[in-house]
Amino acid sequence: MMKKETLHLLILEDNPENAEPMINALEKDGISFEWNRVDSKESFIKGLKEKPDLVLAAHSLIAFDGMDALKIAKEAAPEIPLILISDTIGDDKAVECLKAGADDFVLKHKLSRLGKVVKRALEEAEIYKERIQTEEILLMSDENLRQVQKMEAIGTLAGGVAHDFNNILMAIQGNVDIALMDVEKDHPVHLNLMEIRKASERASDLTRQLLLFSRRQAMEQIPLNPNKIIKNLLKMLNRLIGEDIILKVDLANDLKMIKGDTGTIEQAVMNLVVNARDVMTDGGKITVATNNLFLNEKDCRLYSDAKPGEFVCLSVQDNGDGIAPPILDRIFDPFFTTKEQGKGTGLGLSAVYGIVKKHEGWINVESIPDEGTTFKMYLPTISAEPEQNRPPVLSPEKLNGNQERILLVEDEEVVRNILRELLSEKKYKVFPAANAQEALAIFEKEKGAFDLIFSDVVLPDLRGPKLVKQLLKQKPKIPVLFTSGYSEEKSDREIINEFGYTYIKKPFTSYDMLKTVKEVLEKK
Ligand SMILES: Nc1ncnc2c1ncn2[C@@H]1O[C@H](COP(=O)(O)OP(=O)(O)OP(=O)(O)O)[C@@H](O)[C@H]1O
Ligand SMILES: [Mg+2]
Repeated sequence: MMKKETLHLLILEDNPENAEPMINALEKDGISFEWNRVDSKESFIKGLKEKPDLVLAAHSLIAFDGMDALKIAKEAAPEIPLILISDTIGDDKAVECLKAGADDFVLKHKLSRLGKVVKRALEEAEIYKERIQTEEILLMSDENLRQVQKMEAIGTLAGGVAHDFNNILMAIQGNVDIALMDVEKDHPVHLNLMEIRKASERASDLTRQLLLFSRRQAMEQIPLNPNKIIKNLLKMLNRLIGEDIILKVDLANDLKMIKGDTGTIEQAVMNLVVNARDVMTDGGKITVATNNLFLNEKDCRLYSDAKPGEFVCLSVQDNGDGIAPPILDRIFDPFFTTKEQGKGTGLGLSAVYGIVKKHEGWINVESIPDEGTTFKMYLPTISAEPEQNRPPVLSPEKLNGNQERILLVEDEEVVRNILRELLSEKKYKVFPAANAQEALAIFEKEKGAFDLIFSDVVLPDLRGPKLVKQLLKQKPKIPVLFTSGYSEEKSDREIINEFGYTYIKKPFTSYDMLKTVKEVLEKK
């Protein structure tokens, strides 16, 4: 766990003269901190939103009672330790305060204790935070494990049935073919035999997908270039999607090789593209893209199922209606379909899942209702790449910042926290905001004193480029770095291009992110 250099204290005390001895007591104990005094309910709530490290609350306020403050704080931010400062406090009252969640209380005439009490409260808060994090991770891995076990069980079952079924189908097809040889084309039975043949071909298709899901299908393990597979598939994909949908291809030119089976990778891409086509009945755009990716332990926390290493990310993005959250949990289940009877088997994504697993990779899906869906397959690379193709690597020291102040606007909490951690570790001063509103408030509070605005394009309350436009009205010279995992609306792209802002596409590696931040700051 990273230790912050400066503590942020929120002091609730309506008399500035009373706050002074608290501050003196802490300074005397060698605690270095920044503080913010508030004196009303409203300003207290606002102060809590800025997530201070600790709250010191005077027990007898004119505006409102210390117990009320305690209640507000414990509801808004239970993880922030709170210490009550009181003139006098009876035993009963003291017990009541502790029961209500105060971490400790200190009497006004015994403020010499304050430093020790604060240090202990902070230590306990750190332990509490770590415990919560561990519990969350355990809960998540438990959930993942159940999901994996379920998929394994269904896979085994499906694989067994499919295998036998395939043999039966082969017998049917073989016999139909033999019969067809003996029956003239104009014979009435010829048509029936042809229909049997067609039906058994459809059934074969189905069992093939089932076998892919169960991973019973034999697969080759040879070095492959995923870009080549996609290029060879283009003609067929274009035929599949029809004329109303545009197929865009965005392939990394230094793509690493993977080890696997061309046919099954083709099948996976096809299944994803067909799904995208099916949700865009009025036309739209499908983007098939590849890129290289290096994930370290920390990066892996951004993706469920991820493991560290080098990967090729092969993604298929559409701008259809997206997938509603309750459905999202089930889309990889075999036979799960929202299509009408007879239209879908619900095996397409199960097959993709199996194919990716067989390649020792994983698949992720990101979907925004009304905006679209992106499926990303991550496949481990093999090191067959000539050395000179690698981009020059900046040494870790070169990635260091110099206390530059970064306004970081990112709505995804995990992403925001990791970015903050990575940037702080490299000696940047990060001001995180979860949405445009928070960003505007921080910007105002800090009087626009930033060296960089690092913002997501898609925010819950305002598009990133619009936010930046507002911020730069006050301080037009601040460099801007945009990021997004999503294909932006045309208007976003236009603003980003018009002003020549730098843009980094998610998912990115910590190295690429730090390098880009450095480049943007140096361009200034
Ligand atoms: N790109 C997408 N956008 C929105 N929903 C999708 C998308 N891809 C898959 N889905 C949802 O996931 C479900 C399962 O997909 P899957 O490919 O497994 O089966 P299917 O497409 O319904 O059937 P089949 O693949 O046999 O045509 C779909 O019915 C649909 O509800
Ligand atoms: Mg499908």
